[in-house]
Amino acid sequence: MRMYDLIMKKRNGGVLSKDEIYFMIEEYTRGNIPDYQMSAMMMAIYFVGMNEEETLHLTMAMAQSGDMLNLSGIDGVKVDKHSTGGVGDKTSLALTPMVSACGVKIAKMSGRGLGHTGGTIDKLESFPGFSTDISTQKFISNVNEIGIAIMGQTKELAPADKKLYALRDVTATVDNMSLIASSIMSKKLAAGADAIVLDVKTGSGAFMKKQEDAFALAREMVSLGKNAGRNTLAVVSDMDQPLGNAIGNALEVKEAIDTLKGQGPADFTELCMTIGALMLIAGGVASTEQEARSQLEQVIKDGRALDKLAEFVKAQGGDERAVYHPELLAKAAYEEAILAPSEGYVQKIICDEAGIASLILGGGRETKESVIDLSVGIILNKKVGAKVKTGEELATLYANDYEKLKAAKERLLGAYRIGQEKPELRNVIIGVVK
Ligand code: URA
Repeated sequence: MRMYDLIMKKRNGGVLSKDEIYFMIEEYTRGNIPDYQMSAMMMAIYFVGMNEEETLHLTMAMAQSGDMLNLSGIDGVKVDKHSTGGVGDKTSLALTPMVSACGVKIAKMSGRGLGHTGGTIDKLESFPGFSTDISTQKFISNVNEIGIAIMGQTKELAPADKKLYALRDVTATVDNMSLIASSIMSKKLAAGADAIVLDVKTGSGAFMKKQEDAFALAREMVSLGKNAGRNTLAVVSDMDQPLGNAIGNALEVKEAIDTLKGQGPADFTELCMTIGALMLIAGGVASTEQEARSQLEQVIKDGRALDKLAEFVKAQGGDERAVYHPELLAKAAYEEAILAPSEGYVQKIICDEAGIASLILGGGRETKESVIDLSVGIILNKKVGAKVKTGEELATLYANDYEKLKAAKERLLGAYRIGQEKPELRNVIIGVVK
C-alpha cells in the first residue's frame, strides 16, 4: 500500500477501506509517513469528507494506536465527561466532584487550553502542586479508592491523535466533523470509561457556531461511542456568551468552588445539574432525572461535594486548603473595570472575543510554549439580557501587566453589544442526544 495512492483516492472522492485507514494511522504513528503527505490527506478529507464507516475506522485506529486502558478491575460503572471547549467552561471542576460524591466513579481524561478556549488541566493547576501527569496505576488506584481521578493525555494514549491534532492545528484542518469526532472519541475510548457524557458547545465561542452542526457532531460522537460498546450521550449547550461569570484559571476555580457551595451563577449551575443528572443515571445510582437532581442538591447542601474536591486535589498532589480558603489561590496585582458606554440592554457578548481578552492578559497560550498566568482573567458583572446604565460596570479585568491590561480592556469592551431592544435569551441547555 502507498500513501500517495490513498491521498489520490480520497482527493478524487473515494471511500477509504478499513485496511487503508489502519495502514495510514499505524505508519504515521511510527513515523513512516511524513507530515506533508498526512497534511495532504487531512485537506482531502476536509473537502471530500468521510462516511460513517470511515469515521468509525479512523476513530478505532487512533484509539488503538497506543494503550487502551482497562478499568474493568474497578467495581461499578466508570464515567468520563468531555466538553468540546469554550470560554469560562469550568464545568469539570464542579461537576466531577459533585457526581463522585453521589457514588459514581469518575475516570476522566482532560486536555489543556487551546487558542481562546481554556483547558481543565491548566485550571486544576491553580491548586499549587496539583498534577494530572500521573501514571496509569495511580489513575486506576485513585478511581478505585477515592472515586475520582483526572489524567492528561499521555504519550501512550491515542498517540496518533496527539500527532495528528498538532498537524491539523497548523494546516487549517481542525474544523471538520469527522476529524473532530474521531479525535475526541479516540481519546475517550482509549481512556477506558464505560460511559461517556459529552458536552457539545455551540455559538460564537465554540468550534460549532451553528446549532445544526453541533447536533450533527453530537450525533456522530454518540454513534461512535455506542458502536464501540460504550454508553454514550451528549448535551448540546450554549457557548454564544461565556459560561458563568469567571474567565481565567484561578478565577474559574473560585467560581467552581462557589458552585459546589450552592452559590454559583445560574447558567453554570444549571449546566452542572443537567450533565450531572445524566452521569448519575449512566452510572446507575439514579433512575430518573428528578432523583438524580435531588442527590446532587443534597451533596452540595451537606458539603460532601466540596469535601470530594478537596480529597481529589490532595490525592493528585495539590494543596487542598485552597478548596476551603480560595483566597490562597493566585491573585493578580491590578484590577480594573470596563464601564458601559451607553444605556440599554446587553444584547451580545462576542464569546471568542472575551476569551481572547483573557488570553491577552496571559490567561491562555499564544503559542504552544507560552506559560499561562493562572491569576489573571475577567469577571463578567453583566451578561446578556442585563439592563445597564451609562457608566455602570460591565466587567472587571485582573492583570499583572499594565500594557496587557490596556489591550484586553479594549478587546473586551469591543465584545459587548449594548442596544435598546431586550434580547431573546438562549437557554444554557439546547438539547440532549441519546
Ligand atoms: N478537541 C479535540 O480533542 N479534537 C478536535 O479535533 C477538536 C477538539
